[in-house]
Amino acid sequence: MVTDSSPSTSVLSSSVWAPPSAWGGCRLRHLVVVALPSTTTGSGIPVHGHMVTSACRLVLWFPYVGLSPLHGSSSPFVGVVWCHHVVDDGRDAAAQGGRGGRALSTKLGFKLGFVGESNQISEMWIFGRKGPSGFSACSTAEEVTQGIDGTGLTAIVTGASSGIGTETTRVLALRGVHVVMAVRNRDTSGKVKEAILKENPNAKLDVMELDLGSMASVRKFASEYKSSGLPLNLLINNAGVMAPPFMLTQDNLELQFGTNHIGHFLLTNLLLETMKSTARESQKEGRIVNVSSEGHRYAYREGVRFDKINDESSFSPMSAYGQSKLANILHANELAKRFKEEGVEITANSLHPGAIPTTKLLRHHSIIDGLANMVAKYFMKDCPQGAATTCYVALHPQVKGVSGEYFSDSNLAKPSALAKDEELAKKLWDFSVTLTDSK
Ligand SMILES: NC(=O)c1ccc[n+]([C@@H]2O[C@H](COP(=O)([O-])OP(=O)(O)OC[C@H]3O[C@@H](n4cnc5c(N)ncnc54)[C@H](OP(=O)(O)O)[C@@H]3O)[C@@H](O)[C@H]2O)c1
Repeated sequence: MVTDSSPSTSVLSSSVWAPPSAWGGCRLRHLVVVALPSTTTGSGIPVHGHMVTSACRLVLWFPYVGLSPLHGSSSPFVGVVWCHHVVDDGRDAAAQGGRGGRALSTKLGFKLGFVGESNQISEMWIFGRKGPSGFSACSTAEEVTQGIDGTGLTAIVTGASSGIGTETTRVLALRGVHVVMAVRNRDTSGKVKEAILKENPNAKLDVMELDLGSMASVRKFASEYKSSGLPLNLLINNAGVMAPPFMLTQDNLELQFGTNHIGHFLLTNLLLETMKSTARESQKEGRIVNVSSEGHRYAYREGVRFDKINDESSFSPMSAYGQSKLANILHANELAKRFKEEGVEITANSLHPGAIPTTKLLRHHSIIDGLANMVAKYFMKDCPQGAATTCYVALHPQVKGVSGEYFSDSNLAKPSALAKDEELAKKLWDFSVTLTDSK
C-alpha cells in the first residue's frame, strides 16, 4: 500500500474496510488502520491495525505487509495478512495473568486492494465473507442464479468467446436465457458454443459477429440484430482489452477507450429502442450490465482526458485501461439517470468481476500472464466465480429496480469519487455522442 510521502502517519477511515466476518460473528464498533508512510521513492509499506468491538470483546490484529508496484495517490497493492482473532470474555483472564483474551483463530489470508482518492482504501479479501446479498467473492455464477428461471429472456453477451463472457453465456443459457454471443472471432466462439451445447443440449445460443473496435461493425451488428426480430431483455457489455501498448481502433481512437467504452456506448444506443419495446411488450424489466473493473481507480488524474484521448506521448497502458473502465461506470450511471427521467423500465449498472487470472485479459503481458496462471490462480477467482457478479446483476430478483449502482462480489460496492461524478458522466456522454455521430 502506498500513502503520500508526508512524514506523518496516516489513519485511514474505517468505513471502507470490510472485516472478515468469517473470522468472528461479533459486530465491529470501529476499526483503526494505521498506515506508516512510505519513503518518497519506496514502494513497499507495512500496515498494521486492530479492530475493537463494543466493550472490547473482540480484538483482531492484522499485521499486514502490502506491496505496490506503483507509487502514487491511486495505487494497487497486494499483500499477505496474518489475522489473530481474540475474544476477551473475562473467563480466561486469570489463566492469562489478568490480561484476558482467548485466541479463537489465527489465519493467513491474501488481500488485494487500491489506495484511492484521499488515501481511502478500497480492498477485498480474495476469499471473502458473505455480504448482504448472501453471496461472497467465492460464490459462482451457478450459485447466484440457482433457482432463477430465465426462460423467455433474450440476452446479448459481448466478448462471449473467452473468459468471463463464456461463463456468463453458459450460465445464462443454463437458466433458460436465449443468448446471442456477440464476438469478433467466429472460429473460437463456434467451439465455445459447441462445448456449451454438449453440456446443455437445450441451450439457446446464436453467434453474431461484432468488432467493438470498428463503429461500422457495431452498426452492422445492430442492424442485423434488429432485422432478426429478436427481442432484447439483457445487454451484457462484457468484452474488453487491458493494457495493450499504444494502438488505435479502426476509427482512430486509443484502443481501450475505443473498444471498452465507445464500442459499447454505440452498441447500447443503437439497441435502446429494441430494449425499450421489449420491456414494454414483455412487461419485464430490461437490464444493461457494464463489466467495469476496480482498475477504474487507476484512471488518469482527471478521470477521462477528453483533450488527450489519443495522446501517445503521455499514454500509460494502465491509466488508459482505468480511464476506459471508469467510462464503463459513468456510462451506466448516465443511462440509469436518463431511464429514470424517461420512466423507462430498464436498469443500467456496472460491476467489478474480481481478479480472475485465468482469462485471456493479460494477453499483452506474457510474463505476468504466465505467473498469474502458475501462481495467482490458486488464490484468486476462477471463471465460475468471475462471472458471478455479472449473472447476479443480470438475473437476480434482488437487483430488480436497482439502477446506477456499482457491484462487486455480487453485492453493492462503492466506486471511486470520479465514478460518481454526475457532471463527468454527462460530459462523457456528450463527448461519446460527438465521436460516434461522426462515424
Ligand atoms: N480477468 C480479470 O481479472 C478482470 C478484472 C476486472 C475486469 N475485467 C473485465 O472483464 C471483462 C472480460 O474480460 P476477461 O477477463 O474475460 O478477458 P478475456 O478472456 O480476454 O475476454 C475478453 C473478451 O473480449 C473480447 N474482445 C476484445 N476486443 C474486442 C473487440 N474489439 N470486439 C469484440 N470483442 C472483443 C475478446 O475477444 P477475442 O477472444 O476475439 O479477443 C474476449 O472474448 C473485460 O471487460 C475486463 O476488463 C476482468
